[in-house]
Amino acid sequence: MASKAIIVQPGGGYDKVVVGNLEAQAPKSGEITVRLHANSLNYHDFAVVSGMWGPVEPRVPMADGAGVVVALGDGVTGFALGDHVVSTFFPTWLDGEPLVEGFATVPGDGVDGYARELVTATTHAFTHAPKGWTHAEASTLTTAGLTAWRALMCDDALKPGDTVLVQGTGGVSIFALQFAKMAGATVIATSSSEEKLERLRGLGADHVLNYKQDPAWGQTARDLTGGRGVDHIVEVGGPATLEQSMVAARVAGHISLIGILTGLGGNFSLVTALIKQLRLQGVLVGNRTQQLEMIKAIEANGMHPVIDRTFAVEDIVQAFRHQESNRHFGKICLEI
Ligand SMILES: NC(=O)c1ccc[n+]([C@@H]2O[C@H](COP(=O)([O-])OP(=O)(O)OC[C@H]3O[C@@H](n4cnc5c(N)ncnc54)[C@H](OP(=O)(O)O)[C@@H]3O)[C@@H](O)[C@H]2O)c1
Repeated sequence: MASKAIIVQPGGGYDKVVVGNLEAQAPKSGEITVRLHANSLNYHDFAVVSGMWGPVEPRVPMADGAGVVVALGDGVTGFALGDHVVSTFFPTWLDGEPLVEGFATVPGDGVDGYARELVTATTHAFTHAPKGWTHAEASTLTTAGLTAWRALMCDDALKPGDTVLVQGTGGVSIFALQFAKMAGATVIATSSSEEKLERLRGLGADHVLNYKQDPAWGQTARDLTGGRGVDHIVEVGGPATLEQSMVAARVAGHISLIGILTGLGGNFSLVTALIKQLRLQGVLVGNRTQQLEMIKAIEANGMHPVIDRTFAVEDIVQAFRHQESNRHFGKICLEI
């Protein structure tokens, strides 16, 4: 079957993004064919499409895809025609401890992703979507949703009453705020925009801080906990935020090293990590079992993601320009 697809030519760059066609094969044993209806954007997809980490061969971008099962291979159990599904970030990491280093197996990076109408893939590449969610909503879970879930619920067992700090108003941080509130935590949220701080309060943030106006926001956050410090920090800023995150953390607090919004490396003093005995945990999304657990919790709590804006898949470059502007609040999606 012919299928419309977005293809990023080798090297990447907005001028290397074309709309083409790809054949979707009939599903073999253990495979399903999915009619994709939505993607969501992540910084990682931006790196592939913009050429920051451009592909070495023509590549269908986008790790996050959601749609409907339209064909089943022999021996497939657990999926039926018409089921609504969402992709997994690591189709080869099903359970347990991390098995993967880097992005060689990740759809939209090392292998073709989901900015296309049809894909045939192993059943491990998908799970069911949350019941009652739109395809765009479901597509937000693969990367941003699961990263926030794993950081808070798997690497660290968040408890009601713990304090969580989330940085900025991108996809990962808003999911982390929602999951933390779902678990009964107190949330301190930061943003560079007063308007966005108000929206964070509307989502349940207990305390908000403007990280541009308050460069010592780490100490301010610690003060907000009565001096004890924050239990869990969802670190998406990177080199320019890590030092303040370590100041904010409590003794033996957990910092999930997730993001590189301010760059790939820098100078910071590690002595705070030593004297406070912090746990710094690198995070690369999560496994399929964790995705299933996250979806169970979402359904039990009636949660929905925050979608900023949706573009047509053909307008993918415009969508990434919107992401680059940092005007968004939550997730940006594509409709296919
Ligand atoms: N390791 C993983 O598994 C994993 C998975 C997903 C994402 N990530 C990474 O996590 C980061 C966030 O991803 P995302 O998809 O949530 O990004 P996003 O949606 O593009 O987030 C952008 C937002 O981050 C905030 N921000 C920018 N600089 C900041 C700073 N210095 N301090 C605090 N907030 C800042 C801004 O919020 P305001 O406008 O409110 O200031 C901005 O709007 C990226 O670096 C991404 O690569 C990693």
